[in-house]
Amino acid sequence: MEDSSTKIHSSLRTVEWKDNKVIMIDQTKLPNQLVFVTYDDFNQVADAIRTLIVRGAPAIGVSGAFGLALASLQSKSTTKEELLSDLEKARKILFETRPTAVNLKWGLDKIMKVARSGNTIEQIKQSVINESKKMAEEDIEINKSMGKNGSVLFDDNDTIMTHCNAGALATVAYGTALGVIRATRESGKNVKVIATETRPIQQGSRLTAFELKHDGFDVSLIPDTAVGYSMANGLVNKVIVGADRIVRTGHVFNKIGTYQVATMAKQHGIPFYVAAPLSTFDMKSDAKDVIIEMRKGVEVTGIGDKKTAPDDINVINPAFDMTPPELISGIITEKGVAKPPFEESIKKLFEAN
Ligand code: MRU
Repeated sequence: MEDSSTKIHSSLRTVEWKDNKVIMIDQTKLPNQLVFVTYDDFNQVADAIRTLIVRGAPAIGVSGAFGLALASLQSKSTTKEELLSDLEKARKILFETRPTAVNLKWGLDKIMKVARSGNTIEQIKQSVINESKKMAEEDIEINKSMGKNGSVLFDDNDTIMTHCNAGALATVAYGTALGVIRATRESGKNVKVIATETRPIQQGSRLTAFELKHDGFDVSLIPDTAVGYSMANGLVNKVIVGADRIVRTGHVFNKIGTYQVATMAKQHGIPFYVAAPLSTFDMKSDAKDVIIEMRKGVEVTGIGDKKTAPDDINVINPAFDMTPPELISGIITEKGVAKPPFEESIKKLFEAN
């Protein structure tokens, strides 16, 4: 079910719940078409997460929650136990779509907890829908708080480099890293942005460049290979990226290539910031236990439909990498900014929560 629209929204809303259906921007079609897809089956939402129609850690967290809300409506159960069992089956399917962003687990767990605490079938269905809608609204508020907390770290006339897309398109709206850039502009400072292309799926050129241009930012696109050049030639004052998972030691898992950008920033004495909500923190796992999603080689052996590598070439295509804490200047959250040493400062953020 797809409905195409040429209408450009003043503020992009990536995913929303409307009339018991989930509506999302099909990000695989950007930047050429702004197309919205409508789903009434949780399996469609699972497919959308798997195929990157929706992507970005907070956006897939909320999408997972909406998926469970659809599953509750789809269930024909007559008892609470049957409904919980249907929801558990849907949770497993949604959870297995992508392994690295911890927000997906966070969103699913939150909804399952609400479902378990309900009494009647009707009450459970309603509370699951309400909770997922609340989660979506809170995502925007959290991003705005994060933006305010982070904006003080940026100066008038800064040129800020970002990698991948941690914008409105990676969240419900406003964005994490790009939310901080938005808030910096809203505080009256003039900033420019350099967006990396972010091969192989090009979230930087397809999504960040689209989103920032759409919202009137001065944005320049560079190939990933020009990160060193840009920093060595004084084109960049600061870097900000999002995250898919941050463990308690401050190791940050984010889009492949983030580690290279952070290493280059360190080499050139450029502050490197990460912006992420508390729902992106995994306080239980060790960095070595985090699963890095490996994606199909076809994403690397071509660009769009054009083949750019020989047949049958062996490909290594990790979707994420880990940036160690010693390369990070600060982690911006809705509760404040964690500074090194991170193990201590992250703990404090959670204690204050
Ligand atoms: O594979 P993707 O596009 O889902 O990866 C997204 C990222 O790596 C983002 O930087 C991250 O999710 C932060 S989003 C606010």
